[in-house]
Amino acid sequence: MAKTIVVEKVGGPDVMRLVEMDPGKPGPGEVLLRHTAIGVNFADVHYRRGTAPPHAMAKLPMPFTPGLEAVGIIEELGAGVEGFKVGDKVGYATATNTIGAYTEARTFEADRLYHIPSGVADLDAAALMYRGITVQGMVRACYKVKPGDVVLLQAAAGGVGSIVSQWCKSLGATVIGTVSRDEKVDYARSNGCEHVIVVSREDFVKRTMDITEGRGVDVVYDGVGADTFLKSFDCIRKYGMMVSFGQAAGMMDPVDPVMLQHNALYLTKFSGSTYNAEREEYLARAQEVLAAIGKGTLRPGRPAVYSLENVAQAHRDFEDRGTMGSLVIKL
Ligand SMILES: NC(=O)c1ccc[n+]([C@@H]2O[C@H](COP(=O)([O-])OP(=O)(O)OC[C@H]3O[C@@H](n4cnc5c(N)ncnc54)[C@H](OP(=O)(O)O)[C@@H]3O)[C@@H](O)[C@H]2O)c1
Repeated sequence: MAKTIVVEKVGGPDVMRLVEMDPGKPGPGEVLLRHTAIGVNFADVHYRRGTAPPHAMAKLPMPFTPGLEAVGIIEELGAGVEGFKVGDKVGYATATNTIGAYTEARTFEADRLYHIPSGVADLDAAALMYRGITVQGMVRACYKVKPGDVVLLQAAAGGVGSIVSQWCKSLGATVIGTVSRDEKVDYARSNGCEHVIVVSREDFVKRTMDITEGRGVDVVYDGVGADTFLKSFDCIRKYGMMVSFGQAAGMMDPVDPVMLQHNALYLTKFSGSTYNAEREEYLARAQEVLAAIGKGTLRPGRPAVYSLENVAQAHRDFEDRGTMGSLVIKL
C-alpha cells in the first residue's frame, strides 16, 4: 500500500486528502516506483484549485493525485521494459496525462524515466528537474540566450526563477530580476541576478529602462502573468522577445498584435508538454539538466522540505508568496 494524496473536487489546499492506495502492478512498458522525493511545483497549485489553462484542466482525471515529478527506486518491471532494472534510481518530470506524483509508490511508463546519477541527491533532483527541463527549453530553444544578452526575469527568487538566473548567468547574460519583497533580494542575487527590482516599491518598467539606458531587454521571461505580462512589453528592445511561461498571479490579458508593432516584438507562450512531447527531446533536456546539476552549474539553493502529510502547507506557502527557490516532499 502507498500513502497517496487524492483530490476529489478542486478547491483550497484542504481538498488534498491523504489515503492508503494500492499502487497496482506495472503494466507492459511500465515500472513500479517507490518514491524517495517529490517536486512540488506551482502547476500543482493550479491543478488543485482549477486555475490551470482550460486545455490542461480538460485532460485532468477526477478524482486525481497531484504532482508532476518525482525521484524513486524501481521495485518491479512490467513486460518489455528495457534499459532499467529493479533497484535503479530514476526520475521523471511529466505532464497532465501522467499526473499523480504525490504518493509513496506508483506505476509509471519506463519511456519517460531518466536515471539519476550517483552524484545527484534525490532532493536536489526533485527540486531541479521539472523546473530545469522547463528552463532548458526556454533558454536553449525558445529564445536562445547568448553572451551579452540582457534578460528581464519576473519572480526571480522563485523556483523556476532561480534556475533561469543561474542558467542565463552561466551563458554570459545579464539578468534583471523582479521580486515582491526585500527579503527575497539577496536570494535572487545569489542565483545570478545582477539587478533586483522590488516590485512592491519600485516601477519595474522604469527601472529596467534605466538599467538598460533606454534600450530595453533582449528577452523577458514571465511566469507571473496577470500583474506583469502587459507591462513587460514596455521593457523589450526592438525585435526582442516575450516568453510567457506561467500565470502564478492569474491569466494574462489578451494581446492586440498592434501592441507588438512599435518595436516589432515576438511573443511566445512556452509549453512544457509541447516542448517535451517527443521522448528524445525530453530525455536530451533531462540529461543536460542532470549534467549541469552534477557539475554544480545548477544549484538547488535551499529547497523547502515538506512531508506528504503536510503538503497542504506547501501549497499555502506558494499562494502566500512566501517561498524562495524550490519546494520538495521528502519521503
Ligand atoms: N509552461 C511550463 O511548462 C511551465 C513549467 C514549469 C513552471 N511553469 C510556471 O512557472 C511559474 C513558476 O513556477 P514555480 O513552481 O517555480 O513557482 P515559483 O516561481 O517558485 O512561485 C511563484 C512566484 O510567483 C510570484 N507571484 C506573483 N504573484 C503571485 C500570486 N498572486 N500568487 C503566487 N505567486 C505569485 C511569487 O514571487 P514574488 O512574490 O517574488 O513575486 C512566487 O514566488 C508558475 O507560473 C508555473 O506554473 C510553467
